[in-house]
Amino acid sequence: MKIRFGILPALLLAGATFGAVAQQAEAPQPQLWSPVTHEVVQGDIPEIRGIAADHVLPASSWTVNQAELTGLDTLGNAQFNADLLLFGVFGVAVLFALFVMINGKAKLTHGFSGKLVPRWSKTDVAVHWIGAIACMGLILTGLVMAAGRFYLDPLMMEARWQGLVNAMVAWHNFLAFPFIVGALVMMVKWAPKQMPEACDLAWFKSCGGYLNFGSFKGKHPDAGFANAGEKLWFWCFTLFGLILIGTGLVMMFPSLVSTKDAANLALVLHLVGALIVGAFSVVHIFMATIMSEGGMECMVSGQCDENWAKQHHNLWYDKLSRS
Ligand code: HEM
Repeated sequence: MKIRFGILPALLLAGATFGAVAQQAEAPQPQLWSPVTHEVVQGDIPEIRGIAADHVLPASSWTVNQAELTGLDTLGNAQFNADLLLFGVFGVAVLFALFVMINGKAKLTHGFSGKLVPRWSKTDVAVHWIGAIACMGLILTGLVMAAGRFYLDPLMMEARWQGLVNAMVAWHNFLAFPFIVGALVMMVKWAPKQMPEACDLAWFKSCGGYLNFGSFKGKHPDAGFANAGEKLWFWCFTLFGLILIGTGLVMMFPSLVSTKDAANLALVLHLVGALIVGAFSVVHIFMATIMSEGGMECMVSGQCDENWAKQHHNLWYDKLSRS
């Protein structure tokens, strides 16, 4: 029987690299990057790879609940998953670039004052970049693992593709650890700064003052240390980042769960987390580098221009200048 290949085996191999080491001696290895047939090993997650339900699974301690396979099966179209993840990064980047071209940047109304205000500590900046660089690496390696089979494999020799994808898997596994450290510290350390405030709803209603047309133009809605958009990113990142970490660990160490259904679920949730964090990261990067004049300085020196603070975080600036 032919097994279809794509994102799922790619992600699987990422998880299996660590988890399968212990099983190498006794179990046949899945040759995920070449068109092999019918080898399915313990720690592998065949159901959402489109393998027919009547496929005989190898003897293992994993229990398969056939009745529940159909739901997960529908999520198993590898090409669809790959395209969705690609759109989440490149599609969103193109859409956002078009938006910036049409709307223009959010300029500082009174320009730069030259006076700097402390905003993030050196530890905050370091932790942000540890998490951010690892996250960007995970997104890129994950995309090659997910979509490379469809878009890169046909362009290169099989051996070269296998070398590339194996390198991506190794990097994906390696980068997971700095990401976990950076993300967890950001989540715990920054949560108190990201709590909801009364002004958040009004911030959303005026789209943060970032739209340069109609009645939105020239608005500077109130915001504390973090504005409502940053809070949305922070809490999305916290929720889906934790899901990515938890499910990623399950795929690295499959013995953490006791049923194949649980492993399947981990994989599906990993894809959902990757899609949302990937797409939101693109928006976050655009906001920091292109959209918000003076915003990038915050995560380079930890300081921001006084006029940037007044325009984008007036309530925080007022509090700071009173203290
Ligand atoms: C893709 C991985 C990244 C993650 C997970 C991440 C995460 C975060 C989080 C949670 C915050 C705090 C909430 C906020 O202020 O928005 C933040 C702030 C910030 N990030 Fe990132 N970030 C990433 C990449 C980047 C990149 C690539 C840049 C710039 C090139 C960047 C620039 C900034 C800046 C300038 C701030 C501070 C904004 C402010 O002071 O209000 N981030 N990041």
